[in-house]
Amino acid sequence: GRKWTEVGSITPELKDQVILIRGRVQTIRPVGKKIAFVVVRERGFTVQCVLTVKVDLVSSQMVKYATSLSKESIVDIEGVVSIPEKPITGSTQQQVEVQISKLYCVNRAVPTLPINIEDAARSEVEIEQALEKGEQLVRVNQDTRLNFRILDIRTPANQGIFRIQCQVENIFRQFLLSEGFVGIHTPKLIAGSSEGGSAVFRLVYKGGVPACLAQSPQLHKQMAICGDFSRVFEIGPVFRAEDSFTHRHLCEFTGLDVEMEIKEHYSEVMDIVDRLFVAMFDSLNENCKKELEAIGKQYPFEPLKYLRKTLRLTFAEGIQMLKEAGVEVDPLGDLNTESERKLGQLVAEKYGTEFYILHKYPQAVRPFYTMPCHDNPSYSNSFDVFIRGEEIISGAQRIHVPEFLEKRAGECGIDVKTISAYIDSFRYGAPPHGGFGVGLERVVMLFCALNNIRKTSLFPRDPQRIAP
Ligand code: 4AD
Repeated sequence: GRKWTEVGSITPELKDQVILIRGRVQTIRPVGKKIAFVVVRERGFTVQCVLTVKVDLVSSQMVKYATSLSKESIVDIEGVVSIPEKPITGSTQQQVEVQISKLYCVNRAVPTLPINIEDAARSEVEIEQALEKGEQLVRVNQDTRLNFRILDIRTPANQGIFRIQCQVENIFRQFLLSEGFVGIHTPKLIAGSSEGGSAVFRLVYKGGVPACLAQSPQLHKQMAICGDFSRVFEIGPVFRAEDSFTHRHLCEFTGLDVEMEIKEHYSEVMDIVDRLFVAMFDSLNENCKKELEAIGKQYPFEPLKYLRKTLRLTFAEGIQMLKEAGVEVDPLGDLNTESERKLGQLVAEKYGTEFYILHKYPQAVRPFYTMPCHDNPSYSNSFDVFIRGEEIISGAQRIHVPEFLEKRAGECGIDVKTISAYIDSFRYGAPPHGGFGVGLERVVMLFCALNNIRKTSLFPRDPQRIAP
């Protein structure tokens, strides 16, 4: 095979070398009949290629042919790398040109596209400026983007977002493996709901048996602990039949779950959260610079502020901070989105971090399997974790005594019969344990300060969308 060069790695050091690239036609600009500029894009990076009529090498027919190519067609180009006289602007545009000697069209795109990638890639500020200048421009709305997602995800920002997502997953796995965790997979078709009755997709299993799509791996990851895997993690789909259409709820998302034995205190679980996420943010900042830059160009954002040792506040301390700021909330209730955001602001001002853990939540607002506090059963050994004032994680110590678990399930209105295998798992010797669940799309959304979770889901499923 011949040697191919990626558009993203054509650097000035390649000057005068012949290279071979494959990409998409982003734009074609003919200048008279003898010259055409072809901007080629590959995975979010672009390079300007120049076709100039030259005796025995490039004919005027070839220039005409190139000019006829439709945008987004796939092309192979062979040419010599040169350094343009005028410097090129744009962080994803390579600082070189390619003088074309050969150009083949591998596959044509239809002549009219529902989304123009260049328009879809502009920031709000760039759109405003273009409109002021009277440029013809179509503002691409969210529904159009999602309807034609395979075009939309070609923008540099989107290419960056999904590479960041992959890296988050990768670090999650690598970190936990290095800490002695084992990766597992739990069933997504289950007999009863795993997080309580609301927001569950119900279906009919073989033989007419009622079943659910798992709202979390909660029950089975705990059963794995009962099965002597003392530390487990899972990366898998999570289904929630959410009714409300919000910026941060999907009906299917990717859960990053952890469950582990606790030797002495539920803070051992928060220690893992702390070290895992500091390692993750460090790695994203260090290893994903190009991606973060591409995202920031379209959706400008400030890098996340986080501390070397993650701040932990108790729920009561959080309530007190809100109270001092004039926000009254029920000390034994839950925080709503607005008060969570407000607390996020207060914490950032006071402690200089946009990433923190809030723990010891009121027992009444936590799921049935949550362990109450030893010294005050109105509170629980549980926590939520926030980025920029929005929840990305919830976690807790679990009840490992079967009689107590059964009692709590009943009190929370759960039909104990549907989870009998789960409860029975604790009858054969179960260690104290706890864990947490992370929403992958939320982590990426909030790390990059994006305003909508649909931007970080490749093909989002929400209450109004199940296609494409
Ligand atoms: O807070 P949740 O519901 O907690 C659980 O599922 C527990 N079983 C976790 C545990 O181990 N105790 O969900 C965990 C995380 C949330 O913090 C949020 O990041 C994400 O999952 N999440 C959603 N993400 C997108 N769309 C939704 N509808 C989400 N619901 C929860």
